[in-house]
Amino acid sequence: MGSITANPFQDIPEARTEPIFLLVYTRQMKGKHMYFPVYWRIVSTQTLGASGGCHAGAVLLRDHYEPWKRSGKPEIFIPDDTWCKFPILTSSVVPCSDQLPVNHPFLFKSAGIKPTIIPYFNHKTNSFDFEAFTATLRELPAQSVILIQSNAQNPTGSDPSPQQWRELATIFSQRGHLAFFDAAYPGFASGDIDTDLQGVRFERVGLLSVLTANEDTAKKLEVQMKLLARAESGAPPDFGSKIVETVLSDEALKAQWREEVRDMANRLKQRRLRLREGLEKLETPGNWNHITEQNGMFSYIGLSVEQVTLLRDEYHVYLQDSSRISIAGLNNFNIDYVARSISAVVKATTK
Ligand SMILES: Cc1ncc(COP(=O)(O)O)c(C=O)c1O
Repeated sequence: MGSITANPFQDIPEARTEPIFLLVYTRQMKGKHMYFPVYWRIVSTQTLGASGGCHAGAVLLRDHYEPWKRSGKPEIFIPDDTWCKFPILTSSVVPCSDQLPVNHPFLFKSAGIKPTIIPYFNHKTNSFDFEAFTATLRELPAQSVILIQSNAQNPTGSDPSPQQWRELATIFSQRGHLAFFDAAYPGFASGDIDTDLQGVRFERVGLLSVLTANEDTAKKLEVQMKLLARAESGAPPDFGSKIVETVLSDEALKAQWREEVRDMANRLKQRRLRLREGLEKLETPGNWNHITEQNGMFSYIGLSVEQVTLLRDEYHVYLQDSSRISIAGLNNFNIDYVARSISAVVKATTK
């Protein structure tokens, strides 16, 4: 065992906000469609992963979002199916119960913000419920804050289409709503990071970014962010941010990283296709198109709790009661077995 020679306290890292870290990130954020002036209106700080980003964003809003300060009632609207799960909804806007073991609402609640659920997923079509979501957005008080995942939505796998993103942007802007994006999986849906961030232009691995109205506000907010970073994680882990900086500031490494994200997303797509084809070949009752229409690592496969229980008890195929499966858990060795098991269960339970 080697002896400790360096002073462990001489190089305590701070949350990275220095130009190189932000530059490499922000170049990423700019994407293909972000025009140059916006660049100066983005303020970012390193955070402890995506959970840390959500929490830091929650605290920042709680302390500085004017409409909340005026009303004294901070409230965030969160999709019914989100990281991770709510019970089935009975009405369009329902206050969360205190005990819900659901990450997003729990996280905002712990920051003193009331989480309220709004519809997002249509269990009949197994896809994003654009009509219900937009109807709710129109009904909510002006300047509401709405949490939305940028792509490869966890747990449903269902995202807005490019056209729907455009319409959502129009409604957000008409109503003066603030979109709180959780972008945990850029690249996991299409394989292309820019494409996946069409709804928002920012990057992950622990980064909180705020697009402000002008450069002056950005400078003021930067001061608050530095204070916040101190409070949230005084000396954050340095290693991850150094990896990001190394990869994104080197063109060859960056290209390799993008390629690997693409390969990974393609593998997820192939597994989705193979599962769907497996179910169709076995003439499994029902429509399985949604498996390939959804995105990313997770999928609401569309089974009832009874079917999920049978799968678990009879076939030892384990998925959540919500019927969320992890596509990443399927491989060459188990995918046919999973398809056969699902098919058998659906046939046994379909009248
Ligand atoms: C949508 C979403 N946001 C945030 C997180 C948390 O990410 P992290 O592990 O980086 O805190 C997850 C992880 O599952 C997630 O799916």
